[in-house]
Amino acid sequence: KYNPHKLPVIWLETNDSGDNNIAFMSSVYPYLQEVFDEMIDLLYSNTFMAAQGREALEILFRPAKKFRGRFTLVVEGAVPVKDNGLYNLIARTENHDITALEAVTALGGMAGHVVAAGTCASFGGASAARPNITGSVGVSQVLNREVINVSGCPVNPDWLVGTLAHLLMYGRPELDSLDRPTMFYGFTVHRHCQRRSYFDQKNFAQKLGDIECMFSLGCMGPRTGADCPYRQWINHVSWPVKVNTPCIGCTNEDFPDGSTPFFTP
Ligand code: SF4
Ligand code: F3S
Repeated sequence: KYNPHKLPVIWLETNDSGDNNIAFMSSVYPYLQEVFDEMIDLLYSNTFMAAQGREALEILFRPAKKFRGRFTLVVEGAVPVKDNGLYNLIARTENHDITALEAVTALGGMAGHVVAAGTCASFGGASAARPNITGSVGVSQVLNREVINVSGCPVNPDWLVGTLAHLLMYGRPELDSLDRPTMFYGFTVHRHCQRRSYFDQKNFAQKLGDIECMFSLGCMGPRTGADCPYRQWINHVSWPVKVNTPCIGCTNEDFPDGSTPFFTP
């Protein structure tokens, strides 16, 4: 039943690993149940809905028409454009295959806001990594409108739930030069890293497991915008550097190609 106090959302999954979906389910503040009960009206999602096949297809475009201009389109995954988008099909009918390219283009033109969940949807990400045989690109490259990029591989549940909450309560959040909400991406990982004092003293790790700054091992923290050091991950308990792993720059526009090799020996 329609609740005017919730944000109508259509969630399309395209070329990704499903990791953003799993991260979203791990939201703890608020919990997923509260997200569904209080915040969003999830009108279509291949993961969360019971309908399958023809039934699912029938409910894909119906709510989009009903809530035209008011619903938020969440896209999880990159959009393959090579060979007319053949490498990701949202649905098959007797006489027509609906590609992700077609669905994102059509629904993106009808939505009030478009949110790209994860780095694949934001910038192409792992789905567009060399040699990118499907011609995958970020959502903003196939839409002639603003896309709110909530990057991360996967996206931190707070970043996605927080962005949806902001749209519901205050409207469009302030965005950075890559169209990401500044409230989550405004500072580099490096700025608030707990090993920053080692960096400032030029005290660098020799190998993984050492307690010093891992810039010497290829840490991307200095050029990666994200609040991981203080927000932390899944239940807010830890993050890469805390478990002796350099930041690999998963929120960046050039991830993963621009970050490889991930670890410098
Ligand atoms: Fe910066 Fe990385 Fe060193 Fe932390 S470990 S201080 S993020 S270079
Ligand atoms: Fe990603 Fe770096 Fe945070 S790899 S999870 S942005 S610490």
